[in-house]
Amino acid sequence: MNRLDGKVVLITGAARGIGAATARAMAHEGAKVCLCDILDEHGKALADELQADGAEAMYLHLDVTSEEAWSAVVLQATQRFGGVDVLVNNAGIYLGKSFEEASLADWRRLCDVNLTGAVLGIKALLPSLRERAKSSTHGSAIVNLSSVAGLVGAATDPLYSLTKGGITLLTKALAVDFGQRAYRVRVNSVHPGAVDTEMGAQTFVARAKALGTDDLQTARRQSIDAHPIGRLGTAPDIAQAIVYLASDEASFVTGSSLAVDGGFTAR
Ligand SMILES: NC(=O)c1ccc[n+]([C@@H]2O[C@H](COP(=O)([O-])OP(=O)(O)OC[C@H]3O[C@@H](n4cnc5c(N)ncnc54)[C@H](O)[C@@H]3O)[C@@H](O)[C@H]2O)c1
Repeated sequence: MNRLDGKVVLITGAARGIGAATARAMAHEGAKVCLCDILDEHGKALADELQADGAEAMYLHLDVTSEEAWSAVVLQATQRFGGVDVLVNNAGIYLGKSFEEASLADWRRLCDVNLTGAVLGIKALLPSLRERAKSSTHGSAIVNLSSVAGLVGAATDPLYSLTKGGITLLTKALAVDFGQRAYRVRVNSVHPGAVDTEMGAQTFVARAKALGTDDLQTARRQSIDAHPIGRLGTAPDIAQAIVYLASDEASFVTGSSLAVDGGFTAR
């Protein structure tokens, strides 16, 4: 028996990084996986890889900022898999600018992807999540990717921090709301520290800039030193936490903020 046998999961930003590692981990645990992204080549290649390994997987183009695109994806996922049990709102962008540098256009783009994307995803999937919950022992689940920057202030990118703080509290508000309405849809957030992905690399550039240098190795070293465990996170580190929150092992966990950060926020 695998931890996600019989579950249909939809993951945004699944073409690379944490989303791709989550798709691999979930497929390994028996889930049917719907991978969504705007990086079609990478997304299709990963779906092919998972299928070659014997999993049921499908790639769908989805720009999370588009309500119409969400409707189309829900329809396709429902036609193929009969519904969705788990939504992972993972797609996100990083700005890497100080408050004074960031423009209104920057702010709007951050909000569109990091906040509106998650809101639209939950709106689009909620009917399916509720429906599937009726026939499952422990109900459905939403896992939102926040960040340590959604728990404590991130001076290198205050506006990114703001969007991730929004995700932290959207998660808690909906956990309470859906619980009180007896929807049987749990809602939790995951808060990675610095993770070695494309976005992780962008954070080193921002850190170097804030230090007044272009020495990325120094910035990377400083980032590592901010994590008491003494290393950066890996995408699979984060994926395992997402699998746990999506699985029935977490059936009594809702509204929680799970820091997977090597101790970053512990001091
Ligand atoms: N890497 C880190 O250090 C770190 C730390 C904390 C939190 N996070 C969060 O984890 C999540 C994943 O980060 P990652 O490191 O894998 O980043 P990444 O940049 O490697 O991957 C992000 C994915 O999201 C996709 N995406 C971006 N905009 C999209 C859109 N409009 N529609 C659909 N897909 C879109 C990208 O194409 C990409 O595949 C993000 O929400 C990020 O904020 C990352």
